[in-house]
Amino acid sequence: MITPLGVYVHWPYCTRICPYCDFNVYKNSNVDEKVWIAALTRDLEHWARQTPNRKLTSLYFGGGTPSLAPIAVLESVIKNCDRLWGFEAGAEITLEANPTDAEQSTFHDIAATGVNRLSLGVQSLDDGALKFLGRNHTAQSAISAITLAQSNFERITFDLIYARPEQSLDDWRRELTQALTFGASHLSLYQLTIEPGTAFDRQVRAERWQPAEDALSADQFDLAQELTGAAGLPAYEISNHAAPNAQSRHNLIYWRYQDYIGVGPGAHGRLTLNGARVATEALANPQEYLAAPKVGVSELETLDQEAQLVERLTMGLRLNEGITLYADDPFYTDDARAAKLQQAIDDKLVLLQCGRLTATQHGRLVLNRLLYELLG
Ligand SMILES: C[S@@+](CC[C@H](N)C(=O)[O-])C[C@H]1O[C@@H](n2cnc3c(N)ncnc32)[C@H](O)[C@@H]1O
Ligand code: SF4
Repeated sequence: MITPLGVYVHWPYCTRICPYCDFNVYKNSNVDEKVWIAALTRDLEHWARQTPNRKLTSLYFGGGTPSLAPIAVLESVIKNCDRLWGFEAGAEITLEANPTDAEQSTFHDIAATGVNRLSLGVQSLDDGALKFLGRNHTAQSAISAITLAQSNFERITFDLIYARPEQSLDDWRRELTQALTFGASHLSLYQLTIEPGTAFDRQVRAERWQPAEDALSADQFDLAQELTGAAGLPAYEISNHAAPNAQSRHNLIYWRYQDYIGVGPGAHGRLTLNGARVATEALANPQEYLAAPKVGVSELETLDQEAQLVERLTMGLRLNEGITLYADDPFYTDDARAAKLQQAIDDKLVLLQCGRLTATQHGRLVLNRLLYELLG
């Protein structure tokens, strides 16, 4: 069996920083494409030496806003991936884009590099909400970006953020119903999270507004399951919905706890090297990353069995398909762990059937509590 391998490339720049976002992002600065190409090539070559005789299942340009990256950088990464590993047949090459008018004009050139899946950060189809979210596009430009993307790329997906303050259940029903009319085969629906250190965090602390009530967010989550299921895009992960065979192959690698390489500032990787599970993290600061002499890695850690179990559950229980438990898993070999698992089953947070552990719909909604019950 082929073991999937993905490459994630982090492009850290955005034209402005959204008030909810805590990714490793920086306001656009002068980009020297030659310097970027050299640094990304340096790291791709480093990781290719560690992972010989493997082909890539997927390549993912995330950010930040990789639709702002020079086309020459995208071309160079794709060519290097082809040269160093080669792509499996039907490999997925995704790029995240913001739906501004300026970026739409580059879709054709982006598609010509070999990107075959575009992920659009639509966030909302309501102009007032887009303003609140600090976005520099309108609902109309998002809709035209979706249409244009559909004519340029084999597959598209777009993100929406719900559970916004003052968004009623009916508002969400209207917005999601409209979103489902565009014919995308994949949707990511995220509940607004107030991340520490963001502008939204400061506003909430200053009591300028209040986040949505948990009960309403839970109703909105349930409504999303219902509407997407009825439209033929059922959830396959807590926040992700797809038509059959349209799941994100790249993100499935993360959730199935398979191997992926991370290059670009702050990118994370997980690799199985000589039988050991290794976690990697690239230098987060772009200048330090670009200047690194050999490889832009800040951390390399070998994960012990317990750390791997925590990660495998944290990622795998997000998926509807859940995870396989093996005979030597602590849930079978350790009485205290077995009791915790039984408690989570009794609380209807998980199901264990034929050696497969899956979270129930309610369990997925309260995943942090579930993980605490199982692992705490
Ligand atoms: C790397 S970001 C998006 C890429 C692109 N720059 C954009 O903004 O469209 C991935 C997605 O995470 C979601 N996201 C980021 N921060 C979030 C938050 N605090 N709460 C909910 N969703 C969030 C947004 O939907 C965003 O599109
Ligand atoms: S949400 Fe997207 S555009 Fe906004 S700051 Fe984060 S990565 Fe950049």
